[in-house]
Amino acid sequence: MTEHTDYYNRTEAAFKAFGSSGNALLLGIESSCDETAAAVLRGGREVLSMAVHTQIPIHRLYGGVVPEIASRSHTERIAAVTGEALDRAGVTLDDIGAIAVTSEPGLIGALLVGVSFAKGIALAANKPMIGVNHIEGHIAANYLTYPDLEPPFTCLIASGGHSHIVLVKDYAEFELIGRTRDDAAGEAFDKVARALGLPYPGGPEVEKLAAQGDAAAYPLHTPFNSDLSVFDFSFSGIKTAVVNLMHNAAQKGEAINRADLAASFQRSVVETLTQKSVRAALEYGTDTLALAGGVSANKALRSRLEEACAAAGLRFCRPDMRFCTDNAAMIASQGYYRMMRGERSDLDLNPTAGSFLSK
Ligand code: KG4
Ligand code: ZN
Repeated sequence: MTEHTDYYNRTEAAFKAFGSSGNALLLGIESSCDETAAAVLRGGREVLSMAVHTQIPIHRLYGGVVPEIASRSHTERIAAVTGEALDRAGVTLDDIGAIAVTSEPGLIGALLVGVSFAKGIALAANKPMIGVNHIEGHIAANYLTYPDLEPPFTCLIASGGHSHIVLVKDYAEFELIGRTRDDAAGEAFDKVARALGLPYPGGPEVEKLAAQGDAAAYPLHTPFNSDLSVFDFSFSGIKTAVVNLMHNAAQKGEAINRADLAASFQRSVVETLTQKSVRAALEYGTDTLALAGGVSANKALRSRLEEACAAAGLRFCRPDMRFCTDNAAMIASQGYYRMMRGERSDLDLNPTAGSFLSK
């Protein structure tokens, strides 16, 4: 048996009280990438407040996230953002029952800021805490949006670092059904945006440009993604096809319609994600398909999935827009469900750059 610290033993009664209350308050903290975020939740689903400081304008200057700058910015902001979340909820740290903090995966320096801060306040205020997987948090964003949603369901996760189809068997039990073999969907959006001369983060910019384009203009043929007997995806081929199209046109002195190209790229990614995830949900016998991760903010993906789920007789769930990209409410929600299973972290909680359900 592992030796626990004094802190752990001292907070045992508070942890038991949290577990038996069901509607105690949780403070969530998120710092895995380029948003410093905090939130206060009652129980697992009622959001009392959210506070976010986004670093996007800083990283945009460099065309992507600069890890060292991210860590410094988290350090500067985390106390103020947490204070803001508590103030907006009209509570103090004393009223909080437990603390949930993102501990993996993400940028290691950025994660360290959130985890160290969470440990500090947990220790100082004698509150139990739990480290939460960021991707599990993205899935939990759906619990915040649909009060009645419960596992089991199938979930399509599409973020900047991950593209997975996952069977959510229970709140903390997952089975990997499919994953990207190379780039994540969001990563492909970001790289195509860069090729098209659009700023970081590329997803929303590509989506805006695509809205003015013809998605049938540039057929982007991807045999692997069309094979519905395989639930894995590959996005680097589509990204390369876009870049090659641009280079070839430039060499021949031909004009490229950037809006048409953005729309064609988006359609290719949306079709792949939709067809494989709907097929997986049916094959695994679930009646619900949920969407999660930053790319879930994409309106073309949301509406195509909604339509495909309706046609397949599946319930379709997707997070409210405010829960799509990185936030701390989703971390608190997942932390709640893990704590209800009796899980908690000690002061040896260490962040890992890690992954989610890696094969
Ligand atoms: O989940 P997230 O906020 O951070 C990670 O955990 O990775 O996802 C960020 C990713 C970025 O690649 C961003 O370009 C993409 O989500 N994204 C979008 C949209 N909004 C964000 N991709 C396509 N369309 C969008 N509207
Ligand atoms: Zn994320």
